[in-house]
Amino acid sequence: MSELGASMNGTVALVTGGASGIGEATARLFSARGATVVVADIDELRAASVAAEIGGISAHINVAEPDGAENLALRLDDLVGPVTVLVTSAGITQPPTPPEALDVELWDRIMDVDVRGTWLCAAAFGTRMASRGAGSIVTVASVTAMRSTPLHAYGPGKAALITLTANLAAEWGASGVRVNCVAPGYTMTPAMAALIDSGARDPALMESASALGRLVPAEDVALAIAFLSGREAASITGVVLPVDAGWLVTPTWSTYGGIPGARPTSHEKETRP
Ligand SMILES: NC(=O)c1ccc[n+]([C@@H]2O[C@H](COP(=O)([O-])OP(=O)(O)OC[C@H]3O[C@@H](n4cnc5c(N)ncnc54)[C@H](O)[C@@H]3O)[C@@H](O)[C@H]2O)c1
Repeated sequence: MSELGASMNGTVALVTGGASGIGEATARLFSARGATVVVADIDELRAASVAAEIGGISAHINVAEPDGAENLALRLDDLVGPVTVLVTSAGITQPPTPPEALDVELWDRIMDVDVRGTWLCAAAFGTRMASRGAGSIVTVASVTAMRSTPLHAYGPGKAALITLTANLAAEWGASGVRVNCVAPGYTMTPAMAALIDSGARDPALMESASALGRLVPAEDVALAIAFLSGREAASITGVVLPVDAGWLVTPTWSTYGGIPGARPTSHEKETRP
């Protein structure tokens, strides 16, 4: 263990959505820990720039395309050899809407990218891992899969990923492949910044709804992904790990007037006039 965490020397990691946000933070952390990282994204320019900065490899993928993941797997077999860790962070979100205002095309796009895209990547790379007898996959759901929200496509799509994760964990466990899921809470990424800028999310509301009173840094989600993907989680498969600054634990407190504010620190108590 270095101060950066467990070494990932010898790991070949593929991060979809690796050009931005949670995927980018994961690619940077994995690389800092010694992994060979493939930054795969639909945004080729940004993927190339991140890969260049971390000494990794960039690859174009549209995860929603039926052959996208399989074609990438074939290319990478020659280029970097077997992928041992897969992180499926590519995803898109939606503004909150009443169900009658939800465009059916947006529903389809979210299902194509977030659900089908994750399944296609897991199927292409997980099948190869299973045939080699080892590997680790971390999918990226959301806490909105675990509570009700006005995200009528995104939430159900992310809930499907939790079931998919459990199914694949059972499917490939005997073949040495672990499949786990992180469920981030409100995480400060370019996607979140765009939602805030458009008025679709209010930072003050997201912060006050979290036990820790803040959003989640993308780097903290990356740390959880690294934990689940590596040796420290060798006996963990099929689980969903929320990384949400305590958003899931707060809602029932509204019945009791909301969660308490910060207690005065001992220093504040001592210096109080
Ligand atoms: N930011 C949050 O608050 C939050 C919370 C919960 C879950 N998540 C999930 O985390 C993941 C990453 O989100 P983020 O906030 O980092 O977003 P982001 O927009 O910063 O990064 C997502 C990346 O995915 C790529 N991408 C989009 N569609 C693609 C496709 N069809 N094929 C390949 N790449 C594609 C984008 O180009 C981008 O680089 C998503 O699955 C998102 O749903 C985010």
